[in-house]
Amino acid sequence: MHPQRAAAQPDSPAARYAELQRSLAGLLSGEHDLIANTANFAALVYDSLPDLNWAGSYFLRGEQLVLGPFQGRPACVRIAMGRGVCGKAAQQRSSVIVPDVHQFPDHIVCDPVSRSELVVPMLDGDRLVGVFDMDSPLPGRFDAVDQAGIEAAVALLMRASRRSD
Ligand code: SME
Repeated sequence: MHPQRAAAQPDSPAARYAELQRSLAGLLSGEHDLIANTANFAALVYDSLPDLNWAGSYFLRGEQLVLGPFQGRPACVRIAMGRGVCGKAAQQRSSVIVPDVHQFPDHIVCDPVSRSELVVPMLDGDRLVGVFDMDSPLPGRFDAVDQAGIEAAVALLMRASRRSD
């Protein structure tokens, strides 16, 4: 397909992420509080992307990741650095896609419905602030387009936000 025609498809994943980025820029405009902004970010992602059962943040507190604003079912509160998909993404400071959580031995089960996962680190310059985690009930839900879209959105979120503590 012609690339311009592909980009014009309103329901294509790339178009959804372009729209997400525009909506996020509006939501963040004039607000710098990290907690408020991550709360609205989780709600926007959960509301605008299909086939998710969880979306939210964990913040780095010492050597642990501690649950932050999210949408979805209640989740585990503390994750040690290096453990689970979240701890792995935090430790290596790069995104992790797990196409099938049943094949990821150290996966931490918060909701047994989850089948695939994408975790993106939240960085303020060189400083690790936390991770943004998305779960799906569908195996193989996340690909390189999702990773690039969420990485761009997290970068915008972090540029716009300052810690309040
Ligand atoms: N599955 C994650 C834990 C967080 S929940 O999915 C919300 C992990 O393995 O790190």
